[in-house]
Amino acid sequence: MDSHHKTDLCTLGIESTAHTFGIGVCRSGKILANASRTYSQKFGGMKPSDAADHHALAAEDVLCEALRHAGITMRDVGLIGYSKGPGLAPCLRIGRAVAVLCSSILNVPILPVHHSLAHIEIGRHTCGMEDPLVIYVSGGNTQLLILKKGRYSVLGETLDIGLGNAIDTLARSLGLEKAHGGEIERLARTGKYFELPYTVKGMDFAFSGLVTKCEQVSRDHSHEDIAHSFQETAFAMLCEAAERALMITHKKEILLCGGVAQNTRLQGMVAGMAEENGVRFGCPEPQYNRDNGAMIAYTAGYLYHKFGHKYPDTDCGILPRYRIEDSPA
Ligand code: ATP
Ligand code: FE2
Repeated sequence: MDSHHKTDLCTLGIESTAHTFGIGVCRSGKILANASRTYSQKFGGMKPSDAADHHALAAEDVLCEALRHAGITMRDVGLIGYSKGPGLAPCLRIGRAVAVLCSSILNVPILPVHHSLAHIEIGRHTCGMEDPLVIYVSGGNTQLLILKKGRYSVLGETLDIGLGNAIDTLARSLGLEKAHGGEIERLARTGKYFELPYTVKGMDFAFSGLVTKCEQVSRDHSHEDIAHSFQETAFAMLCEAAERALMITHKKEILLCGGVAQNTRLQGMVAGMAEENGVRFGCPEPQYNRDNGAMIAYTAGYLYHKFGHKYPDTDCGILPRYRIEDSPA
């Protein structure tokens, strides 16, 4: 089932909002390539200008790899999509520059794409969903959304930091070599539960108090127990808020997407909640949940098919604080 899309133009999608530079290729709703390089720094946060340098250097290799995997040449490309935001300005500029250059050399249309919308659309597409309640969980963003009057509208969201950033901060505080959610997930498997602050306000939630508490008790508990208890608490908060959103909206599908959606414990908890409520659960495979170019290619193709030359956003710049409510969908 796919009622969405299908431009038969071969679409190149460029992603560069944060740590990942990715290029995907899509045609008629079919993903032909999904190449990427990720900038990683062992300790400390990411410096945007360093990530941007990484992207500028990686661009040529990633483009060649994407074309090779898709079995096409640049001459076959009929549409260029790129991430307009939200994201880090220096990183966004690299992706946009590559996109503008390709589109002007090839003389093909260029289409700016909202990064979070792309996470959702690739999820809706690969899970075959029509009109889901969306749980979007990534580094910088944690939101509950539904489609309403042709745009995504936010029903609930984090009142402070994104869940992925909370997890990465915790991992750094614990001094883990890889400050990443995958590492917290691995430790959590063998941990035992202890109680931590739980903050849900209606359909909103907050994570920074939880991180602070974990840091305060980090000498009294093992890394495993902290990782486990953090996950159980934060994911239960998300499930409670999402269940409330489900009651209000009466949606029949739940889509879990974004970088943190790669967490199998979170998938299990949301799937369980969906089952109890008799709704379908879906979650894209990891390569489409982490930041990637395929989701930009797919979404650009989808939007182009839907709007054609009448696509409402004609500003091909970048927008570091782009809100999803302001994006055509
Ligand atoms: P956005 O702009 O959508 O916020 P992003 O830049 O945060 O995107 P994503 O790839 O969407 O990038 O998400 C990255 C986040 O996902 C990181 O915080 C990372 O720690 C987290 N993450 C990745 N794998 C897991 C996992 N298995 N469990 C928990 N968190 C994870
Ligand atoms: Fe993302």
